[in-house]
Amino acid sequence: MPEIIYGSLIAEKCRTETAEKTAHLKKRTGKAPRLDVIIAGDNPASRIYVRNKEKAAANTGIVSIVHALPVETPRENLLQRIAELNENPEVNGILVQLPLPNPEDEKIVTQAVSPDKDVDGFHPLNLGRLMLREDGFTPCTPRGCMRLIHSVLPDISGLNAVVIGRSTIVGKPMAQLLLNADATVTTTHSKTTDLPSVCRRADILVAAVGIPRFVKAGWVRDGAVVIDVGINRLENGTLCGDVDFEAVLPKCRAITPVPKGVGPMTIAMLMENTVEAFCRQNGIDPAQRTNPSL
Ligand code: GUN
Repeated sequence: MPEIIYGSLIAEKCRTETAEKTAHLKKRTGKAPRLDVIIAGDNPASRIYVRNKEKAAANTGIVSIVHALPVETPRENLLQRIAELNENPEVNGILVQLPLPNPEDEKIVTQAVSPDKDVDGFHPLNLGRLMLREDGFTPCTPRGCMRLIHSVLPDISGLNAVVIGRSTIVGKPMAQLLLNADATVTTTHSKTTDLPSVCRRADILVAAVGIPRFVKAGWVRDGAVVIDVGINRLENGTLCGDVDFEAVLPKCRAITPVPKGVGPMTIAMLMENTVEAFCRQNGIDPAQRTNPSL
């Protein structure tokens, strides 16, 4: 029987563990971890994400401060705010919600966040550390996907993994994490020749393209584990993933649903990264990694 991997349940467990950790840290240091989130403009999806981050922080004992800036905020003001947060010793983690109103600002703004407070893991130094398997911050969505994969496949050494999508936020770090865990990894993208046959080789298939129901049943090998990162809103208002869930389900060993799959894990991993930042900044061993490949 195919298993549906409910990220929502695994995320709840992660949040409970994080709450226990923050309670312990508060006792030990008298302080709570603090996450500062910058949101510029009024993108409705971003507002929902930020509200969910605030809720998760409240549930895990993390202090969260939201800096809501107007859509017309000049780049210099954004950079000024980040510089203040970098300098402020009370702030452990900084997240700039993407997309920014001016997408051209994203590179410089992402790189302005101190790598020591970069709980998104988007700074080039942290992406480099991921490649070198050194301690740093791992982007939250791929880190959450690895947890979901490990929930059904504790050892992925030697398995074939195919990632659809090569974004900096998901596809590329995802492929690197799979490689770090000794999978044989193929990253595919819009120029890939005969994508269905490449996907059919996958023991682990991760879809992160942003196209509703893009992955068809005929692309999936019998017994594959399928991770669907897509969150697409259809015209009728319902959400669906990048995988044709109903058709693919019978072929899988396990598959994540949308919603209640990868989405909740991203926020749970953000909370873990924030606690990890707090620990490092306070000279405490985070003992945070549940899997050495992360
Ligand atoms: N927008 C969509 N996903 C993310 C994320 O993981 N981090 C940030 N900062 N912005 C996002």
